[in-house]
This record gives sequence, C-alpha cells and structure tokens, in this order.
Amino acid sequence: MLYKDLDRSAQERLLAEIEKKLQTYKDLNLDLNMARGKPSPEQLDHVTTLFENVSMDNFMSEEGIDVRNYGGLYGLIELRRVFGSMLKIEPESVWCLSSSSLTIEYDLLSRLMLFPLPGQSKAWRDLNEVKFLCPVPGYDRHFNMLDSFGIKMIPVPMNDEGPDMDLVEELCKKDSSIKGIWTVPMYSNPTGESYSEKTLRRLLSMEAAEDFKVLADMAYAVHHLHEDPAEQDPVYPLLDLAREEGQPDRVFVFASTSKMTYAGAGVACLATSENNRAWLLPSLKSQMISADKVNMLKHARLFRSLGGVESLMKAHAKVLGPKFELVLEAFDEKLGPTGIATWTRPKGGYFVTIWVYPGTASKVYARCKELGLSITDAGACYPYGKDPEDSALRIAPSYPHMDELREAINLFCLIVREQALLKLLEESRS
Ligand SMILES: Cc1ncc(COP(=O)(O)O)c(C=O)c1O
Repeated sequence: MLYKDLDRSAQERLLAEIEKKLQTYKDLNLDLNMARGKPSPEQLDHVTTLFENVSMDNFMSEEGIDVRNYGGLYGLIELRRVFGSMLKIEPESVWCLSSSSLTIEYDLLSRLMLFPLPGQSKAWRDLNEVKFLCPVPGYDRHFNMLDSFGIKMIPVPMNDEGPDMDLVEELCKKDSSIKGIWTVPMYSNPTGESYSEKTLRRLLSMEAAEDFKVLADMAYAVHHLHEDPAEQDPVYPLLDLAREEGQPDRVFVFASTSKMTYAGAGVACLATSENNRAWLLPSLKSQMISADKVNMLKHARLFRSLGGVESLMKAHAKVLGPKFELVLEAFDEKLGPTGIATWTRPKGGYFVTIWVYPGTASKVYARCKELGLSITDAGACYPYGKDPEDSALRIAPSYPHMDELREAINLFCLIVREQALLKLLEESRS
C-alpha cells in the first residue's frame, strides 16, 4: 500500500520497525560510499593489463611525428580518428588537447570570457551580464565552473528527452544575455538519460543570441551498460546536425577517455567548426606547443589492438551492468510499492537519479552520513546547490564492489523510507 494512503498508526508502526533496523546498522560502524562516479579498481586493473600489451618501442606516429618531442598541436591523427568515430565527427574537426575534458572546458569558457567571438565586438567579460541555461539535475562541476566566472545560472528542468525545450526556446528568444547552455547529451550526469535528436536539433536551430553556444560534454558517448544495440542510446553527429540546422558554429563538443582508461592519465578532446577553430587558434598557440603525445600514441595503439573501443567498453559494461541492475532492483522492490520515490533507468553512463519524497533529500543525505554511507550532497546537482524541491539525489553505483553496494543500497532505501514517513507524519500533524 502506498505510504501516503496508510493511516497514522500504520505509518508510526512502520517507522518504528525501520528505526529498529537502522539501529542495527548504526552498531556496525559502516564506511560505505556511493558518492563517487569513478571506475572501480577491477575496471582499472583490466585496463592496466591491456596497456602492458601495447608496444612502445617505436615512438613515431602514423604521420612520422616523434611523439617524445614538441609538435603536433592538434594531437595525433590516429587518436583524433578514434574520437571522431566515437562522436561521429570528422577527425579534422577534433583536437586532442589535454588529459582531461574539464580542463579543456574550463579553458574554453576562459577564452569565451576573454576574446570576442567572430562577428562580435565584445568578449563576454565586457558585457553587463552573461547567463547560461543549466538543465537540472545536472553536473555540479559544470555549475561550479560557470559560478567561478560570475556567469548567472538559470535552471531548466530535464525531461526524458533532454531539457524542457519549450522553456529553453522561450527564455533564449527574449533574453540575448543568455549566451549558452551546458549539456551532457549522452547518458547525462546525473540522470543517465540521453537527449533525443529532436531536442538536439531544436537547441541547434532555435532563435537565440548570435553568440549563443551549446557546450556538449560527451563524457559518456560510448559508455553503454548493455551489449545489445537495441538497449543503447544513439550518438548523434552534433557538428553535422549544427550544419544542417544552419548554425555550424553554435556547438562545442568535449570528450575524454577518463572512464575508458585512466582518469587524469587519459586523453581528451574538443571538436568544433572550422570558424570556431580559427577563433581558438591564436590563444591556443600562446598557451601550448603540444599535449602528451606519448600517451596519445599509447591510447591509439591500445584501441587499434582491440579492434576499436567497443570491446573495451563491453568489458567495462560487464562490471558496471550488474551494479546498476542491483540498484534498480532494490529500488523496484523496496521503494516501488511505497510510492514515495521515482528514479531513472539509464542505459549507460555512471549515475542513477532518484527523487525521494519532496522535502527530504537533505535529511536523507545527513542520515546516510550519520550511519556511515557517503552519497553525493543533496542539492549538488543544481546551480548554487539549491534543489527547490529538496528531492533529487545522485547515486553512483560504479565504485563499490557488489557486496558493499548491496549493503549500501539496502541501507539507503531504509533511510529514504524512514525520512518519507517522518515527513508524512509531520504533514498530517500540520
Ligand atoms: C559529464 C562529465 N564531464 C566531465 C567529467 C570529467 O571528465 P575528465 O576526467 O575528462 O575531466 C565527468 C566526470 O565525472 C563528467 O561526469
């Protein structure tokens, strides 16, 4: 029976039972963690053995560049081709610039603040106000980045096809100080859901400021949880779509191998139009001569030896898939019948979002902490840390091993139920 339909005494009885169970957890002094969207040690060990088989006795790239030396500002073509095929973008438009996509994203925002875009007389820092649309729930680091530049963030709710496009179009049409939108079009952080082609086309074609930009973080472009293509979301060719919609310069795409090989020790890229690349070049040339091409060559050789990135991603999915299933089965079984929460069912990525009973997310977070379970802070997935409903929580099942995850998710579900009952009882009192 739905919790809200139970009478007060039944709610009180249930609460007492749950609190008794939670007391036993308290006595265990647990140290569980579902906060980190990181590959597990098992996934990393697998990649280490793969790299051991990569021969690095020849340091010449396909184009005859000695990767140990300076040169090759845009990165090695063999790796640009790998990213190109992951993102469905021609390799010439892809530049490998760093080991982290966040670094490239931050650099790009800095350049947008500092240097006027083609056809614009002013850089963004010289405007009275710069605003960005932020689909929510979204990625906290994107929001922190905007905040660090003093860019005003406007939340836009997500639905299962991406951001609410009616609202996005309405806002952009009437306010030319809205200069961009942060998006994670594939297996978004934190809902795990992907944007539809229709949403992407609307973003790329809608009426907006001339220098409006879609920042597309494709962190999870190939991070499917299932082998069957019917169970995977499609990657849309963002630069092609932008060209087809008559806005070739509207989009910047980012990706990295952080959750394919090693975070911080992988390779990352930026892809964008010819005009945008020409705009970027002077400041890029002042910043660097070339990135880590030794690592690029290692990655290109690894992917070639595997016959593409797919087999590597299948190996990751074998570890990750059961963890997501465990979480979703626990939610279905322990929360489904109560009617107090809803959650996403991602086909890829690293996260599940759950909406707990409104007004209880921060209490769930605090209670988890008290009982030795770390989860991502309530509100973290919203600009300025403010979830108006105090309801969304991000669950990261990837890092703990299965036993730990089982214990963590059982404890989490008990706490979600406890806090919902407390709130329902409070509501019925007032
Ligand atoms: C959407 C998104 N973008 C970027 C990153 C970080 O990427 P990188 O390690 O390439 O900086 C993450 C990590 O969780 C992420 O979820």
